[in-house]
Amino acid sequence: MQTVLVLDFGGQYSRLIARRVRELKVYSEIVNHDITAGEIKKRNPAGLILSGGPASVYVEQAPVCDKKIFDLGVPVLGICYGMQLMAKLLGGHVANTGMSEYGKTSVTLDKDSTLFTGMAQEQIVWMSHQDLVDQLPPDFETSATTLATPMAAFEHKKRRLYGTQFHPEVVHTPKGMHMLKNFLYEVCDCAPTWTMVSKIESEVEEIREQAGDANVICGLSGGVDSATAAVLVHKAVGDKLTCILVDHGLLRKDEAEQVEETFKKHFKINLIRADVQKRFIDLLSGVTEPEKKRHIIGYEFIKVFEEEASKIKGVKYLVQGTLYPDVIESGANRESAKIKTHHNVGALPVEMDFELIEPLRLLFKDEVREVAAELGLPEEIVWRQPFPGPGLAIRIIGDVTDERLKILREADAIVDEEIKRAGLYQEIWQAFAILPAIKSVGVMGDSRTYSYPIIIRAVTSQDAMTADWAKLPYDVLERMSNRIINEVEGVNRVAFDISSKPPSTIEWE
Ligand code: XMP
Repeated sequence: MQTVLVLDFGGQYSRLIARRVRELKVYSEIVNHDITAGEIKKRNPAGLILSGGPASVYVEQAPVCDKKIFDLGVPVLGICYGMQLMAKLLGGHVANTGMSEYGKTSVTLDKDSTLFTGMAQEQIVWMSHQDLVDQLPPDFETSATTLATPMAAFEHKKRRLYGTQFHPEVVHTPKGMHMLKNFLYEVCDCAPTWTMVSKIESEVEEIREQAGDANVICGLSGGVDSATAAVLVHKAVGDKLTCILVDHGLLRKDEAEQVEETFKKHFKINLIRADVQKRFIDLLSGVTEPEKKRHIIGYEFIKVFEEEASKIKGVKYLVQGTLYPDVIESGANRESAKIKTHHNVGALPVEMDFELIEPLRLLFKDEVREVAAELGLPEEIVWRQPFPGPGLAIRIIGDVTDERLKILREADAIVDEEIKRAGLYQEIWQAFAILPAIKSVGVMGDSRTYSYPIIIRAVTSQDAMTADWAKLPYDVLERMSNRIINEVEGVNRVAFDISSKPPSTIEWE
């Protein structure tokens, strides 16, 4: 499989570069900048892309790459810092002019450059830099200029080494994809053949080899990651897979039923559903402190999971829905991945005696959704918004009781339905209801009420690290409010949370 490696110098766009390459149907992986030329050679990549990075090449701790990578005969594209580093290592010069160039910039391209083939000479590109190349390495040529940056792109055609000071990977460079396409298809000679279907096929083959005759278990949560991982593994090992759904009673409305329906009936996958709602409610009784709730739920979840797993003989593997961003964050250290095994359910670093199968470890979230759709998972699972492992318990402030769970579950289902009805489900990161631990006075008909409010939380986000409150249309909010107050017994008021993260968080807890 032709692979393009992205050497990461700490730039905010490294992942985006890898995504873009994959969008152009060439497989791409991110590797640390200190990978040696020898290791690269072993992987035999079709091309290398050096990412941007926040450092200046002359800073003492500036990340560098092995200079010998430029002698491998593999095409290289250096972007921003990547270009500057290439210049410095190959005998050019980088200067800090004291002038920074930031934002959309007009550039004049050399149309004879393979990188810019088929493009108009004047283009808009995205710049974000202080340093710039002011002297080319020997035998390099300038291939683009801007007013502030005379060497905005350079190349050594014969050695197939290219650099751009601007960022072709961001949307603010309208023809950026064209440039990347030229690099991949024309310079690296890649064919656009990588697809999700080919990815699925090779993944299934690998899982089959890894698992052999052993039994495999997988915890299902209702979310898209574990569901997709389970279906992929099922394709590889069939009946050797058993899925375990711990229904702790803290799931969203109809979630457990839907998972059961999908997996048992539709995919005919062995599924154990542990109905342990009472166990969890009993344990949570009187517990109001959020971290304590998380701890109890996490601990009990693992206990139930282990109890169920121990009923199956000869289990050697545990399927995890780990995604590529987690893999990148934990570096090459697979131990960290193991520690994270159950971070999902309560931040507990518990180790179980299983080897991991992680079929999604090289995919981004949106690629997982693509695989899920390809595998025939229902829309509701493919597009499911993220949901915390401890579930509704951390969206109930104070005591978690059956009555309060019922109120929140019904209100949450209305928020969910109305967001979907308004066609906003996919553009909103998360929209849900919260039940605080206060009551207030209201009037319904002729009587005074003294009931709970429901708070609606809706946010937009890329990765949950930061989030904006979603500007939901008034009519959608109005419908949610009317429906919640009319349909959910025990609620007489609805409020909308208009805080962003930071300083707030997405969940209330
Ligand atoms: P906060 O509230 O910290 O949430 O802004 C960030 C994102 O993480 C989700 N979340 C969890 N996800 N297990 C999970 O898998 C958990 O225990 C957990 N707690 C919070 C939250 O829904 C949001 O998307």
